Amino acid sequence: MKNFTFYSPTFFVFGKKTENEAGHYIKKYGGSKVLIHYGGGSVVRSGLIDRIKASLDKEGIKYTELGGVQPNPRSGLVYKGIELCRKENVDFILAVGGGSVIDSAKAIAAGVPYDGDFWDFFEGKRIEKTLKVGTVLTIAAAGSEGSDSMVITREEGMLKRGAGGDIIRPVFSILNPELTQTLPAYQTACGAVDIMAHILERYFTNTREVEITDRMCEAVLLTIIKEVPRVIEDPDNYEARANIMWAGMVAHNNLLGVGREQDWASHGIEHELSALYDVAHGAGLAVIFPAWMTYVYNHDINRFVQFAVRVWGCQMNFANPEETAKEGIKRFKQFLTSIGMPVNFKELGAREEDIPLLVEKMGLGENYTRGSFVRLKSSDVEKIYRLAL
Ligand code: NZQ
Ligand code: ZN
Repeated sequence: MKNFTFYSPTFFVFGKKTENEAGHYIKKYGGSKVLIHYGGGSVVRSGLIDRIKASLDKEGIKYTELGGVQPNPRSGLVYKGIELCRKENVDFILAVGGGSVIDSAKAIAAGVPYDGDFWDFFEGKRIEKTLKVGTVLTIAAAGSEGSDSMVITREEGMLKRGAGGDIIRPVFSILNPELTQTLPAYQTACGAVDIMAHILERYFTNTREVEITDRMCEAVLLTIIKEVPRVIEDPDNYEARANIMWAGMVAHNNLLGVGREQDWASHGIEHELSALYDVAHGAGLAVIFPAWMTYVYNHDINRFVQFAVRVWGCQMNFANPEETAKEGIKRFKQFLTSIGMPVNFKELGAREEDIPLLVEKMGLGENYTRGSFVRLKSSDVEKIYRLAL
């Protein structure tokens, strides 16, 4: 196990009707003028925003609002949010929605006290100061409710990039599984794939002797594999929704990733797909992850055998471990198909002729690499896209 530090200071409030406590927690964390930030309308239609406003009114907290965050959130709205917060003297941002809304809120929070262009943070500048962010989560997926990262798409060139630091972790996150019951099956499944991907980016590591986090990763993967078909069958299954919601947080606040080298190549490769085609991040991952696995499994067959046996219950083939490794990847892909996910370019709506552009946009040369389990050059990324055709 490698040396590590772990700081995950978000306060979590989990369970039924907990969104009604939003005002209480904003007050507890010192917010006096709030920006309520939300997406394309699901939270308005469900009446959630009205309940949140009532909770703020009850505590005498003033607020302004900014809706319209798109999936794969755009920089344009972040600039608008920064301007609005400065004009209205906002000191706290409440994100009500999914990963896109939370990431947009984090970017606004980092941009308000910063003199330069907030995009600098996505080009390597360290975030020194932010407004506080709280969240009311409506989809189990990105894990942004507990994570130290944010992902924004810059319209100019449609560049999708990440930035982060412990400073942007939300001060509190309210997780009510009931709020996820309105999700269409497709969005539920996209979220589940993202959760699995966050675990797999950590699971496939070159670090040895990490049994504790290996076992924790496997436990959360097994939970998703069990619970997702149950909610697709019965969207109102609160207990299954609850297990998925907490899995999404645990998968990405880095509890499962400490002490081990992490990969993250598949996320980088996927981000170009969601930037170019505006597809859901989870759907893109369903296409990329099995292709990545197929490309790299030879690097460490034993690790893929462990994945196959412990996660997918494959029978160990002692005479031919490679067969077991391949069987695990096959079962993963079958699972993705069974929950309605695309597993190739065609099903996703991506085009073979765009592959050179996708590779180019990743900005890797033959010397720059992505990933750490296997360090990928541009030519490797191209082969992975082709395996996903
Ligand atoms: O915009 P509305 O109308 O609210 O609809 C949303 C949106 O269309 C809908 N939705 C959310 N909750 C709902 C609901 N519909 C009905 N009922 C509900 N309860 O779902 C759609 C997707 O929402 P979005 O926020 O985009 O989903 P997700 O949470 O998957 O976030 C995806 C974004 O997060 C980034 C992704 O790249 C992508 O941009 N990521 C962020 C990470 C982080 N900050 O740590 C890590 C991830 O790897 C990921 O990259
Ligand atoms: Zn992700």
